[in-house]
Amino acid sequence: MNPAAPKQADPPTPLLEAHRLCKNFGGVRAVQDISLTISAGTVFAIIGPNGAGKSTLLNLLSGVYQPDAGEIRFAGLDLVGLPAHRRVRHGLARTFQKIRLFKQLSVLENVLAGYHTRHSIPPLQYLLHGAAFRADARRCRAGALDLLEFVGLAHRAAVPAGSLAYGEQRLLEIARALATSPRLLMVDEPAAGLNGAEVAALLRRIANLRERGVTIVLVEHNMDLVMTLADRILVMDYGERLFEGAPGEVQAHPEVIAAYLGAEAL
Ligand SMILES: Nc1ncnc2c1ncn2[C@@H]1O[C@H](COP(=O)(O)OP(=O)(O)OP(=O)(O)O)[C@@H](O)[C@H]1O
Ligand SMILES: [Mg+2]
Repeated sequence: MNPAAPKQADPPTPLLEAHRLCKNFGGVRAVQDISLTISAGTVFAIIGPNGAGKSTLLNLLSGVYQPDAGEIRFAGLDLVGLPAHRRVRHGLARTFQKIRLFKQLSVLENVLAGYHTRHSIPPLQYLLHGAAFRADARRCRAGALDLLEFVGLAHRAAVPAGSLAYGEQRLLEIARALATSPRLLMVDEPAAGLNGAEVAALLRRIANLRERGVTIVLVEHNMDLVMTLADRILVMDYGERLFEGAPGEVQAHPEVIAAYLGAEAL
């Protein structure tokens, strides 16, 4: 081997791979034959009209639903059959299109709930070693406050989650998902209900997470956000894959523009 020969760039490592996923609801083919490969450290966006199957695809990847057919591998691990809470322990986290928070609990307590998936000491030790328990609780609290700082909600830590504005609740869901220390974070319409300044802040936060090595799956209708952030975009329509490519390729694809961005954009 010639040591002076230029080294071939390593292909990007796939973190998540899905092969020919299908999910039907009665007669509705919500996800049909969808395959995807998501490289570590990238933002992978999924776009498409209402009812295209985007949330169903996230539900399959996160384990809310099991597929009727197909395979999913995460860092080499076969995910099919693994329930959602087990996937969280392996480093997959998500937020929901329809917000799911503990509305009566405080903002801080909602983030602390995310830590329950990764306590560093086993349950028996909580009983036997009060000091270890208190140290763990302090560590979680400090981490939760850092996450609230990150999403811009530190000043709201003590108020009930239900009293937050809609856009703030979406940010709290992100903080709670991050409390599980995900390698892959899936967000379903994070910009819904946010104003322009909040969308800009969300964009910076997602870019920041990617810089820290978190891989992001972004389902979103806000095209500015998608086109600015995404490394790859999967376009879905009627449960099927219409196109996949880089933002520039998606914008240049006439079928995509007609079906999704609106024929008037042509
Ligand atoms: N639990 C369910 N039971 C029955 N049908 C469902 C269920 N979940 C989704 N569907 C149907 O599957 C199709 C895809 O829905 P999905 O929510 O995945 O679309 P989406 O792309 O997320 O749409 P939106 O942009 O409106 O959020 C729709 O026809 C929807 O009505
Ligand atoms: Mg949806």
